[in-house]
Amino acid sequence: MKKLQILTYPDPRLKIKSQEITQFDKNLQQFIDNLIYTMYNSPAGVGIAAPQVNKHIRAIIIDASNYKHKKNKLNHGLMVLCNPKIVDKDGEIIIREGCLSVPDYTGNVKRYNWIKVEAYDQYGKLITFDTEGFEAVVIQHELDHLEGKLFLDRISSTKDLFRRKVYKK
Ligand code: NI
Repeated sequence: MKKLQILTYPDPRLKIKSQEITQFDKNLQQFIDNLIYTMYNSPAGVGIAAPQVNKHIRAIIIDASNYKHKKNKLNHGLMVLCNPKIVDKDGEIIIREGCLSVPDYTGNVKRYNWIKVEAYDQYGKLITFDTEGFEAVVIQHELDHLEGKLFLDRISSTKDLFRRKVYKK
């Protein structure tokens, strides 16, 4: 497995809309393995989307299980979500978000507190689940990457944007 290079803001390739996955083959599975490896070997890596490593396909990885946050109450551990869709949603939550592609800033973003998701795993098996709080926010953040959006695009005022202290090594 290898660590893939992460594109950082303002790289214009982060704005490309990602394509549906149609082939759940060995190439996809190998790419997903590298994406998982890249996420776990990045600071505070709770989620990553394929376009962040310049592969514009609709795949995201999340793992909220190791992240301490007061709104992190429910999580499903490591999940690979291909062609993910939010099919139902409710409520409202604001969490301070960070992004591997925006290493210098964090920001307060308003999201749905509860979501129901339909997706496929890397083998093409259908997954449906619902989640809330921190994990729901991570999924919505990663879904934005598939549309070529960053959390910065959802910030309405500079008072919601914060300069990040340097990641501890
Ligand atoms: Ni991100």
